Amino acid sequence: MRTPTPRVEIVSTGRWLPDRVVTNHDLEKELDTSDEWIRERTGIVERRIAAREIGAAEMGARAARIAMERASVHAGEIDVIVVSTATPDRLLPSTACDLQALLGATNAAAYDIAAACSGFIYGLTIAEGHLAAGREEVALVVSTEKMSSIVDWGDRTTAVLFGDGAGAAVVKRAENENGPGLLSSFIRSDGTLAELLWRPGGGALIPMDVAVLDQRNHLVKMAGREVFKAAVRSMAEAADQALLRAGLTSDDISLLIPHQANIRIIEATAKYANVPMDKVFVNVDRYGNMSSATIPVALDEAVESRRLREGDHVLLVAFGAGFTWASAVLRW
Ligand code: UT7
Repeated sequence: MRTPTPRVEIVSTGRWLPDRVVTNHDLEKELDTSDEWIRERTGIVERRIAAREIGAAEMGARAARIAMERASVHAGEIDVIVVSTATPDRLLPSTACDLQALLGATNAAAYDIAAACSGFIYGLTIAEGHLAAGREEVALVVSTEKMSSIVDWGDRTTAVLFGDGAGAAVVKRAENENGPGLLSSFIRSDGTLAELLWRPGGGALIPMDVAVLDQRNHLVKMAGREVFKAAVRSMAEAADQALLRAGLTSDDISLLIPHQANIRIIEATAKYANVPMDKVFVNVDRYGNMSSATIPVALDEAVESRRLREGDHVLLVAFGAGFTWASAVLRW
């Protein structure tokens, strides 16, 4: 199959991570866990935790401003803002609207998407739709996650896994059919498995009340082993699909950026996709699982460290609550 003509490209990226580092040893003091267990089972060494007064919109705006500056895009030029977050600052209105206000992006339509850890690739696909339809010129895709605000800090099976962070990308119509751009994407969901990774209470069905709080049902619950198996299976399918749709094979891939939840899932995905680990971007050791922010943060770090260069093909693969899974191939 011929490589498709890209319709959109990521013209710049940005990231923002809180300064505060919480190590596994710090967690040992609060929980019945150990640095050894966390490293062996997840590959995580430390994570960043945002200050109480900084919310998801502010984190996302900080990442977005960096991406906008790099693309020389002013706030007034942005036509659409797609924010992916599992940790909205408020249930109403959207975090995207709060972020729009912070940026002063007065000409933009702004809305949130809830695709959990797959949210950045979902957002990219949505941005492609907006731009390809011809009504918008500049899209801002932001993934911002303050996971520390929805984690149950008394539950060792989840508390050790997550971290806070934000990543952003400015997306425009691709200018050159042989130049940089999004060559393929693939997005899927399976809502029958929702209860394996969820926050059971605090929404419209079970509104927040004392019982929800007592049972800690407003916080993340996860059946880790089942999620692990589904993640490996789904990310393998997603990797295949993005390559197939891009008309490429794993030999064409210069860099694989998988969702950073667990080093064992990353290794399994790389093995299945037939990409050697030296071509796999890993930062789960430094940040833990930042839900949908993991991929744009990694992308930004890969560009900055020149692990991703002009003309390279990068494969993005994600999996998360929903379940959702997604993949994309970009020519950089
Ligand atoms: O981003 C969205 C997608 N999320 C994921 O992809 C996460 C997927 N799941 C995972 O990454 C892994 O399943 C975990 C890291 C969550 C857990 O690793 P595991 O190898 O599947 O461990 P497990 O759940 O089977 O637990 C093994 C043991 C249990 O003890 P017993 O029952 O064998 O006595 C747990 O109670 O480890 C225990 N354990 C811990 N021990 C020390 C669970 N959490 C901890 C902990 N410290 N933090």
